[in-house]
Amino acid sequence: MKNIIINAFKPGYFYIMFKKLIGRLKNSNKEKGLNWVKNQTNITIEEFCKNIDEALFLSVKDDVEALELKANYLLKNHNTKIGDGGNYLLLYFLVRKFKPACVVETGVASGWSSLAILQSLEKNNFGNLYSSDFPFFRLKDPEKHIGLLVQDKNLKKRWHLDIRGDEIALPKISKLLGNTKIDLFHYDSDKSYSGRDFAIKTLRYNFSQNCIIIFDDIHNNLHFKDFLKNENQKHQIIEFKGKYLGILGI
Ligand SMILES: C[S@@+](CC[C@H](N)C(=O)[O-])C[C@H]1O[C@@H](n2cnc3c(N)ncnc32)[C@H](O)[C@@H]1O
Repeated sequence: MKNIIINAFKPGYFYIMFKKLIGRLKNSNKEKGLNWVKNQTNITIEEFCKNIDEALFLSVKDDVEALELKANYLLKNHNTKIGDGGNYLLLYFLVRKFKPACVVETGVASGWSSLAILQSLEKNNFGNLYSSDFPFFRLKDPEKHIGLLVQDKNLKKRWHLDIRGDEIALPKISKLLGNTKIDLFHYDSDKSYSGRDFAIKTLRYNFSQNCIIIFDDIHNNLHFKDFLKNENQKHQIIEFKGKYLGILGI
């Protein structure tokens, strides 16, 4: 409680913390979301990637195992756990395969997804990552934990990180990008319907025509189902460790 109060007094924190609290009180439709996704999925991450490029997927697995070793070592020495990692194997694979010039992600926490994307961009020797996050306000000095897995200076050169929360960071990133289009978008921050909707509305005109869009934890509500109604594109829903992610554009 002490940390929450201290963090709430930091400039820009109270509004986002308050919004999160209100969001928690609203009916999330989680049960409906879960029922919907369960009937939509029939493929594993491994099958999905192998269908796209089996040889690449097999070679990428070694890189990702090395990444896991490094990340687990750093986390073991860090002692504070912040958030679960997104699907870094999928992200690493997609970046290697489609060689995006511009990747945007929301939700960094300790940085599994950021590390995977940055390391894959580095391997391509091409592209940049723009990330939005908001500190875990239950922790003391939460800012210092964000992206702790990204230590390498070469990786940081490709990284623009804004930790003021999606509400502020995404409009800023949209403006910063200007005419540069987003080729890959990964959403893993505020899991509410309104948070997801805000991100799409803010970045819509920044997406390239073939932009790959990935939403994590789509079982939390019916946002992905509604989102698909307006998009005339192929999509895939994949179960991963009891959670579900939705992919559009492949
Ligand atoms: C599930 S974690 C992200 C995990 C990360 N993608 C990984 O692979 O390690 C969710 C993150 O989103 C952040 N978050 C929650 N609400 C947010 C908001 N409104 N704006 C930006 N980030 C937010 C949380 O503080 C947390 O760091």
